[in-house]
Amino acid sequence: MKKLFFLLIPNLLFAQFTNELSIPPTLDGTTFNLTIDESTRQFFAGQTTQTIGFNGDFLGPTLIFKQGDAIDITVNNALDEPTTVHWHGMHVSPEDDGGPHTIIAAGAAWNPDFTVLDRATTFWYHPHLHEKTNEHVTKGAAGLIIIQSTAEEALTLPRTYGEDDIPLIIQCKSFNNQNQLDERGNDTHFMVNGTLDPYLEVPSQMVRFRVINGSNERVLNLGFEDDRTFYQIGSDGGLLTAPVELNRVRLASGERAELVVNFSGESGSTLGMITYASEFGPGIPGGGGGGAQGFDGLDTEFMEIRVGDQTASPVTSISMALATHTPWNESEADYEREITMDGGGPGNPFSLDNALFDIDLINEQVTLDDIEIWTITNNTGLAHPFHIHDVQFYILDKNGVAPPANEQGLKDVVLVEANQSVRFITKFEDFADPQVPYMYHCHILPHEDGGMMGQFVVVEEEVALNFEEIRKQFRIYPNPVTDRIIRVLMPDQLDPQSTVGFTIFDLAGKEISHFPSTVCGPTNLKVLYLEEYNPGIYTLSVLVDGQYESSMRMIIK
Ligand code: C2O
Ligand code: CU
Ligand code: CU
Repeated sequence: MKKLFFLLIPNLLFAQFTNELSIPPTLDGTTFNLTIDESTRQFFAGQTTQTIGFNGDFLGPTLIFKQGDAIDITVNNALDEPTTVHWHGMHVSPEDDGGPHTIIAAGAAWNPDFTVLDRATTFWYHPHLHEKTNEHVTKGAAGLIIIQSTAEEALTLPRTYGEDDIPLIIQCKSFNNQNQLDERGNDTHFMVNGTLDPYLEVPSQMVRFRVINGSNERVLNLGFEDDRTFYQIGSDGGLLTAPVELNRVRLASGERAELVVNFSGESGSTLGMITYASEFGPGIPGGGGGGAQGFDGLDTEFMEIRVGDQTASPVTSISMALATHTPWNESEADYEREITMDGGGPGNPFSLDNALFDIDLINEQVTLDDIEIWTITNNTGLAHPFHIHDVQFYILDKNGVAPPANEQGLKDVVLVEANQSVRFITKFEDFADPQVPYMYHCHILPHEDGGMMGQFVVVEEEVALNFEEIRKQFRIYPNPVTDRIIRVLMPDQLDPQSTVGFTIFDLAGKEISHFPSTVCGPTNLKVLYLEEYNPGIYTLSVLVDGQYESSMRMIIK
């Protein structure tokens, strides 16, 4: 404890928490309009910082969805480059998920619509264009999603947004000496909701924090200056069975927690919110030891809480029964999969299953409605947060040991420590699409962009396709198609006398164009010219001797 106190003194003495915490505005209803655009913000005196924001200069509005509502979103891409927007945590179809395949060209709009199937919780949205996620998120492109439900509303919990229900998007960022955000730099500043050196005024009562670690790499170990306990009431995918009393909550990049802190009777006092990184070893990003830089291994106060008066009708106690969880039983599992985390060190990027992400390769194929157990084994010297799209899961165990109570709820990110194996169980329901995959990846953004990612399709049993076989037969090169010329590589064994024709369909199955059959000839390449294609995902079907032989997913950029 002495050492801890010593470490804290410099921050407590010199940090000036002079900026009132900004609370993102909200959008609600069923129709949403988001515009992602470049902007600037005056973070420091002197040069302004170039940023990216949704409907503003940095971060984005908090989207409030109601469980069961049919939601319609228009995302306008006002950047001068392509991007995608992913609804992290949401159970939606692959086309609506906003992964790296669902590209929104510069100047174009994307219009996902879906029904909100998830429980009341806190999700977030952020770009997901392969190799650009880190840059776009670092520059500010991210926002919060709050899902409300009648079940949650029936509980006694603080839920007045901005008053006793406070979003905390905690991010560690690197500013270079020109005041620009650098996604490759060593962290120089913490910010919360885009505010540097923030203070937050809270009423002297129960206050709920919806915390997200939106840092690109650093793991947080959150607690308060006086080491008080607080309740964790929710994990990534919803409320826990009951509040769990803690004095620390560890959140990796992408992970969320809902906390309730009791400030009753503390009016007039101030309290630091701290990430206790000294309690982490070198194997945790942001921990001490090794090549630690900047904040690594240091207990750092990143926000000051100032307790004010009570509100007119304060929440002074909270429900002790929050939600029901009936995790699938291991014996119900239809399939088990193993994913390894590999690599590390110079010239050896972090990877999954010893392979870097290949946007044309479907790594896993899941059958709709199957219950599966995934085992993620970390063979590297560093902890990595594993994230999967489409589903929420229950952690079964970590190196054979059941998770602590605050990790027994629904999750979509789990930190897998060095030399650890984590098993989780989940069910792949509702959405099948053999063409558009979902992602799974490390949520450390430079690792994800560097290829620590894989993809899976969910297929209905009857239409199960063998992607490996298809790739041996026909292949589009390059895919994504970038220059309006599709080159189809033909399989070697194709008879030169055969005729080959092509039909292109959109995702809705509508025929877009047809290239009549011609004799294959001795070449193994067919070239198709496209003029007026919108960027997006298409299916190219190949007719050999008048019979449909193969279908390929084709991405036009
Ligand atoms: Cu937060 Cu695949 O993303
Ligand atoms: Cu996600
Ligand atoms: Cu990683």
